[in-house]
Amino acid sequence: MAKVKSKYVCQSCGYETAGYLGKCPECGSWGSFVEESTVSLKNAPAEVHDTFPPMKLDEIEMNSEIRMSTNISEFDRVLGGGRGKCISAANSTTSELCQGIVQGSLVLLAGDPGIGKSTLLLQTAGELCKSGKKVLYISAEESASQIKLRAERLGIKTDRLYIYPQTNLELAKKYIEEMKPDLVIVDSIQAIYTSQIQSSAGSVSQIRECCNILMHTAKGQNISIIVIGHVTKEGNIAGPKVLEHMVDTVIQFEGDKYKTYRILRSVKNRFGNTSEVGIFEMSGRGLTEVRNPSELFLKEYSQTQTPGSTIIVTSEGTRPLLIEIQALVGTTPYPAPRRVANGVDTGRVLQILAVLEKRIGLNLSKQDVYVNVIGGMDVDEPAADLGIALAIVTCVRDVVFDSHTAIVGEIGLSGEIRAVNHIEKRITEAQKLGFKRIIIPEANEIQDKIEGIEIVKVKKILEAITRGVARDN
Ligand code: TYD
Ligand code: MG
Repeated sequence: MAKVKSKYVCQSCGYETAGYLGKCPECGSWGSFVEESTVSLKNAPAEVHDTFPPMKLDEIEMNSEIRMSTNISEFDRVLGGGRGKCISAANSTTSELCQGIVQGSLVLLAGDPGIGKSTLLLQTAGELCKSGKKVLYISAEESASQIKLRAERLGIKTDRLYIYPQTNLELAKKYIEEMKPDLVIVDSIQAIYTSQIQSSAGSVSQIRECCNILMHTAKGQNISIIVIGHVTKEGNIAGPKVLEHMVDTVIQFEGDKYKTYRILRSVKNRFGNTSEVGIFEMSGRGLTEVRNPSELFLKEYSQTQTPGSTIIVTSEGTRPLLIEIQALVGTTPYPAPRRVANGVDTGRVLQILAVLEKRIGLNLSKQDVYVNVIGGMDVDEPAADLGIALAIVTCVRDVVFDSHTAIVGEIGLSGEIRAVNHIEKRITEAQKLGFKRIIIPEANEIQDKIEGIEIVKVKKILEAITRGVARDN
């Protein structure tokens, strides 16, 4: 007889205890414990199969990965690729280089509610069906007619896409095994439940167990599965966080819900590079790919030229992006001045302010400083330092920075400008977008002249300010 056992599970991090606790000893959250029951199959025989004995590394035969392109190139880019077999439109073509979802892998697509996860996957399903694939969309959140309505809006017409509104995973699994689709979409992991656990759908135990079952199905049947996971606003991503180590790939869908563009970012990828991003724009007819994202981020720049705004060239994965940075500096009404950073790390901004105070004598002790990255992107590379510093300086001096100049460079504590990676790619991108000048670190040993763009090499922060700002004074 199966025995029902009860335990308390922290909904933030998944820590388990036998009795109720007010504060989680693992992650420090208060009031996060919820009682959950599991059915323990104590007397059931353990299913253990010894498939292979241990093998010597050099005796292992390597099977090349088989990938399936989603036919959405921004999505494929994030899923990663490499040399391997590719099942493309005309069924099982072999190609040397292929991007897309690896056959038999489990992918988690995480993001805030309403960001467009269901839309992206329904569009992907539509594209795959167009190229002859069979897709099963298990919807635990929306009814079949709601999905039909969305599909109409997205212009999807196909007889290969199967919609199955179901919240029970065992029933869904039966159809996955029977139908053997090329791709299964589970929308969402928080809404689906397994009968093996008695706690409610969305609890940590349910999410973990459902993910486990899906992982076995993906590997056992060699079917690719994408699961959707919602992220809560507080950032302690109850569900998806505990899943991250279980799935093969974690893709995050980010962006400002009130703006139109969305960023797809891979945060974990067993089959590819994790720093790639894909950029989309949400329109009335779904998500469209943005092939030239820099143009999108700079759209408003030339129209709104104000002091305290600069353009940096950041590098997301292998792709350079031009992004506007804005700074606002003003006398503080508070006893302690405020430092607010949006899209960049506050610690990094504090460090830049300390260097500006110490090395060029900029006195900001009675000033509030706000730094903002336009476009909802998160810039977490030090190459943005110099652009942030110059935005602050131009705001303090109330001058408009030359709108044809882009900036890259990391600032060291002694005020030196340090080298950055992918410098050629960054320069070329700036030149392609019509920038006439780029300020780069001298430490990046690169030729002086590149067709169509003037290169200004700087060694120290002061030099960057005089050469970057003084020109317009
Ligand atoms: P949805 O995919 O339902 O988000 P999620 O699954 O991540 O919760 O998308 C929700 C938002 O997208 C909703 O506010 C409406 C908007 N949307 C469009 O702007 N255009 C479209 O064509 C579609 C389908 C949705
Ligand atoms: Mg949804």
